[in-house]
Amino acid sequence: MIKILFVCLGNICRSPMAEFVMKDLVEKKHLTTEFYITSAATSSEEIGNPVHHGTRNKLKELGISTAGKLAVQLKKKDYGNYDYILGMEQRNITGIMRIVGSDQKGKVKRLLDYGLNPRDIADPWYTGDFDVTYNDVKEGCEALLDFILKSEGYN
Ligand code: 4NP
Repeated sequence: MIKILFVCLGNICRSPMAEFVMKDLVEKKHLTTEFYITSAATSSEEIGNPVHHGTRNKLKELGISTAGKLAVQLKKKDYGNYDYILGMEQRNITGIMRIVGSDQKGKVKRLLDYGLNPRDIADPWYTGDFDVTYNDVKEGCEALLDFILKSEGYN
């Protein structure tokens, strides 16, 4: 079982988008049972809140449901429970490290560090543009899944 945790500031926009896009990619490869995929926040701001309507509507257009997801906060013990811990932007890496303390196993990276053009995922909180965020998230999730499947010997 490969365990993946996506992390952003609030766990209502970017990291749930990555969670459900990655679940969809994995399902299309008939590998759902091989993965555990979820998401969390570095801040306590949005705990218990549902996915932001911008993310919900963008994924709905694509036939991907975010039903049932409520924001949760990253905990120190999560470090031991996941193989890949992916921040959406550099600020999230700082937030993750503040909570987990150290990254001795090299699990903590930005999602788009797995892509050909490493960068932050666009933050829709200020722009309201969930299309750009989706394109970034999809690019990152596809690159991450390719990396995982190669390193785990699936292809
Ligand atoms: P997210 O978006 O980190 O992608 O879920 C945000 C959610 C809440 C806030 C900022 C970004 N906020 O400032 O409360």
